[in-house]
Amino acid sequence: MADALDRDHEAMPASTQTFIETLISRMTLREKIGQLNQINASEPDAATLYADEVRCGGITAIINQVDRTVIDALQKVAVEESRLGIPLLVGRDVIHGFETIAPLPIGQASSWNPDLVEACAERAALDAGRSGVNWTFAPMVDICRDPRWGRVAECLGEDPYLAGQLGAAMVRGFQGQDVSDPGRIAACAKHFVGYGASEGGRDYNTTNIPENELRNIFLPPFKACLDAGVASIMTSFGDFDGVPATGNEYLLDQILRQEWGFDGVVVSDWDAIHQLCVHGITETDCDAAEMSARAGVDVDMVSRSYSDHLETLIESGKVSLEQVDGMVARILGLKVALGLFNDPYRRVGEETTSSRNRGLDLVKQAAIESVVLLKNDERQLPLTTSKLNSLAVIGPMADAPMDQLGTWVFDADVSRSITPLRALRDRAGDNVKIRHVEALDTTRSRDTRAFGDAVAAAAASDAVLLFLGEEAILSGEAHCRADISLPGAQEDLVRAVRAAGKPLIGIIMAGRPLTLEPVLDDLDAVLYAWHPGSMAGPALADLIFGDAVPSAKLPVTFPKMVGQIPIYYNQKNTGRPATDESVCLIDDIAVGAEQTSFGMTAFHLDAGHKPLFPFGFGLSYTNFEYSDLNLSRDVIGRQDCLDISVSLTNSGQVDATEIVQLYIRDRVGSVTRPVRELKKFTRIKIAAGQSRTVKFQLTENDLAFTRRDRSFGAEPGRFDLWVGGDSASGLEAQFALREDVTT
Ligand code: BGC
Repeated sequence: MADALDRDHEAMPASTQTFIETLISRMTLREKIGQLNQINASEPDAATLYADEVRCGGITAIINQVDRTVIDALQKVAVEESRLGIPLLVGRDVIHGFETIAPLPIGQASSWNPDLVEACAERAALDAGRSGVNWTFAPMVDICRDPRWGRVAECLGEDPYLAGQLGAAMVRGFQGQDVSDPGRIAACAKHFVGYGASEGGRDYNTTNIPENELRNIFLPPFKACLDAGVASIMTSFGDFDGVPATGNEYLLDQILRQEWGFDGVVVSDWDAIHQLCVHGITETDCDAAEMSARAGVDVDMVSRSYSDHLETLIESGKVSLEQVDGMVARILGLKVALGLFNDPYRRVGEETTSSRNRGLDLVKQAAIESVVLLKNDERQLPLTTSKLNSLAVIGPMADAPMDQLGTWVFDADVSRSITPLRALRDRAGDNVKIRHVEALDTTRSRDTRAFGDAVAAAAASDAVLLFLGEEAILSGEAHCRADISLPGAQEDLVRAVRAAGKPLIGIIMAGRPLTLEPVLDDLDAVLYAWHPGSMAGPALADLIFGDAVPSAKLPVTFPKMVGQIPIYYNQKNTGRPATDESVCLIDDIAVGAEQTSFGMTAFHLDAGHKPLFPFGFGLSYTNFEYSDLNLSRDVIGRQDCLDISVSLTNSGQVDATEIVQLYIRDRVGSVTRPVRELKKFTRIKIAAGQSRTVKFQLTENDLAFTRRDRSFGAEPGRFDLWVGGDSASGLEAQFALREDVTT
């Protein structure tokens, strides 16, 4: 611990270090323990309820209070009436917006646009800061390969590189160059680590993550957030290799502190210290406090195990005072960084109309860039108003202002939501008659009585927009589903409306990938919109009428059916990889066929070996053609840089943006390597009929991974490389990394 403390101090300016040391030297043990205690202060009268405890220095941070008056009152007690005047941290889950809501994180991830993701986080920070919040619990960079897990909505996809790039962008957006700017707030990368691997996609469940996967899949996005300067890390609720993450010394001390040198704050997840007893790793809360403190959790989020037991633990020598001083120093360091000692109230100016509108424009752009076009037969989209007399707008998500926001929107101002129905009416004007039928009250409803009206509206209209999906409450924390098909009677609704014989466009708003296969053939076009946020309607109207062109790409693999899960693009090859030729389906098996194990490969008899849609997939209203993949060399040495270029042509009729993806495969390694790994991506806008050259560079570091001996580095050998528009296609080339090559 002494080492960690020294490192802390090295990273801090000397004056801050002296300030913190002096402050700590003046603190009583109770005051020190108070600096580790975060409480839930959500009650309207929290200012009265917790004033005494704050006055005694017993609370370091509050959570879930966003009433400025209450926050300021408590802050006033902290800075003016407590003995040492130490200000409070004010935490809140600001996940994808505050009053104005951007798309879900998984939607933002579909944009593959770090600048846009950064801008959304910056806006959220500003709006939250106005309410007095100075610490958010985002980004969530848990890798998730299981869409049953409700929190897939909150993740940045299944790929460590993409999630790391976007997580880092969020950190920059929340914190800015200088987090003491009152318009910025401290970020928190969560949940360290492996939470997304909860078995069976059931929240809070045990995880099974081998070291190799931990290092190469689950840890890298956290490291990217650290490199972006994230102020804090939250522990995972999960059991990791038999030791719950919140008491796991290997994860929190060895990896986070010692290997990575993280000197920011580690906060437990909600009540997670106490839950060590529930896990059955400790007998009592006192043992739990000891375990978490020793592992490296600085802040106890709401379980009060530290405030109840640390004093005893220090007296008995089970936890050292030096250790507690280190914990306190890190928390004070965050308070200094936030500028709280100089400006505890961090006032941000009132929201002006123009600032609010800029925020709405931003989240509209984010929504446009988050909607993935999955299917567009006969180019049904975009619709042309001049060729349209009437439009049927059907489905439970067409006019659902709250549900279009998705999960984690405690502070949303729903009056800012513009629904698709409203936006389509505005956009279509008087010349297009819109027939609206909700058909189902909610996405879960099984009441089909209004289907007749829906079919009649469809039959009477030139085209049908069917707004389906999951209402917000069906995803998010503890909202996992075992069956991830369209809930309720929505599949029946698709089939009923299909019978009207009109062009049928499905717009799906959901917090997770849904198993769409049963309805895919019946839909002519599909826009997968996730939960797009406040400006869902205008964004979708722009896409539907071609004022905007879809550019988003899936940040997760879409399974055909639940039984394929986990299915992800960066899988291992196995000793018996499936190919199109090797797959045989149930109906291909002759009755009475003899059993054999020759030539058998890895697939399901009822699902084959491919997903419904691969990672990175997304269509446009134009066509992009890739050609002339060129590598600067076939063989590189460790110091070399490989230049890659490809020509990209927009061969369609509209200007559009393509997300160009570069993947590699390391053919042979000291540990088996994924069949593909995303290494680079870029968004590029190309005018209709034009071509552009896209360039990438790879260096040794891009080829590096955690090897069998746990060291990190690249291994010489052959590599495949693809550049293309998704993880299942692309132009292919090869190169080699050789030890003996020098330039
Ligand atoms: C969640 C965290 C969240 C915390 C505080 C927990 O239940 O897992 O992600 O930040 O609550 O609200």
